[in-house]
Amino acid sequence: MPHTGGPNILQKRKRDLPPAKADEVRVRVEAAGFSFAEVQMLRGRYFNQPRFPFVPGYDLVGTVTDVGPGVSDLAVGKRVAALTETGSWAENVVLPAEKLVPVPDNLDPADTVAVVTNGVTARQMLHRVARVQPGQTVLVHGASGGVGTLLMQLARIARVDVIGTASASKHDLVRSLGATPLDYRTDDVPARVRELEPNGVDAVFDHVGGPGLADSWRLLAPGGTLVSYGVASALEAKGHRLLPFVPLLARLLLWKAIPNGRQATFYYVQRWPQHFEDDLTAVLALLAKGQIDTAIDRRVPLSEASDALRLLDSRRASGKVVLVSEDS
Ligand SMILES: NC(=O)c1ccc[n+]([C@@H]2O[C@H](COP(=O)([O-])OP(=O)(O)OC[C@H]3O[C@@H](n4cnc5c(N)ncnc54)[C@H](OP(=O)(O)O)[C@@H]3O)[C@@H](O)[C@H]2O)c1
Repeated sequence: MPHTGGPNILQKRKRDLPPAKADEVRVRVEAAGFSFAEVQMLRGRYFNQPRFPFVPGYDLVGTVTDVGPGVSDLAVGKRVAALTETGSWAENVVLPAEKLVPVPDNLDPADTVAVVTNGVTARQMLHRVARVQPGQTVLVHGASGGVGTLLMQLARIARVDVIGTASASKHDLVRSLGATPLDYRTDDVPARVRELEPNGVDAVFDHVGGPGLADSWRLLAPGGTLVSYGVASALEAKGHRLLPFVPLLARLLLWKAIPNGRQATFYYVQRWPQHFEDDLTAVLALLAKGQIDTAIDRRVPLSEASDALRLLDSRRASGKVVLVSEDS
């Protein structure tokens, strides 16, 4: 990604990859994820993006092809996953060994990568932040996206009812994953949620931010938790990319301080590195048992990365878009 612009600005470049040094591992990438973060990066709006030019790519699954001195727990041929934040849209990468998690060989790499960032995000928000209980009801914004589709399924597995907001064209997908869809573009979402749950919901997962965050807070039942995890509404905003976080974090802090039994917090997937492997392994176990569907919309080779990013940028994707190696 050389600079800001549309999805067509992506360039494929070749460069020599250094050998794996001490405590590093070289990986041949088999699958990498496309996510909303790259849609933000295209506009220079992702809060933690590096300077241009850089190689995007939030996560990957691949096979170890070389290990540097000092790496004892990963052998050549082992399949691994990593959350990279940037850098995974590549044929080969060299990463610190500590970033790699062994994953099963018998799972499809594209299915596996679809749950690396999104599965861990969904699981941690549900079980470590909101601590949902059977019989509860939650509201999932962005239900049709990569995170949203997994959030709904993990909630259903925990015997939690889900109301999910999405564009109308994606309501069949939301319904098929066991949730009640609402159209955030045309429905009065707070009124509709109140009709469905007069006492409010036990958790709201909000990646939108902006003025609607106050609605998310007001929809909480006593004891409920607002989990804010993005500012999708600020995609086209002007000014510094961190500015939208100022009112958002101020509101969360204020609401958290009110002694009314409700909680409000911001979640970031790198918050608990010590739990990453356990949580990914737990989600992969559900995938292996066929209990979750990765809802992959499309698998594209590296040479078609611009088309894939366009699909996400134009909001035509349902579920996850995955980059796969040319030979898979
Ligand atoms: N905090 C963290 O650690 C963390 C980790 C992962 C992801 N995230 C955030 O989670 C969100 C989803 O990521 P993803 O990769 O799953 O995205 P994705 O697959 O591209 O899906 C995006 C979803 O957001 C919805 N959406 C986009 N813009 C919206 C807006 N202005 N208002 C309401 N809904 C909107 C889309 O709805 P329709 O297509 O139905 O219109 C779609 O369901 C992003 O905001 C991302 O930054 C945060």
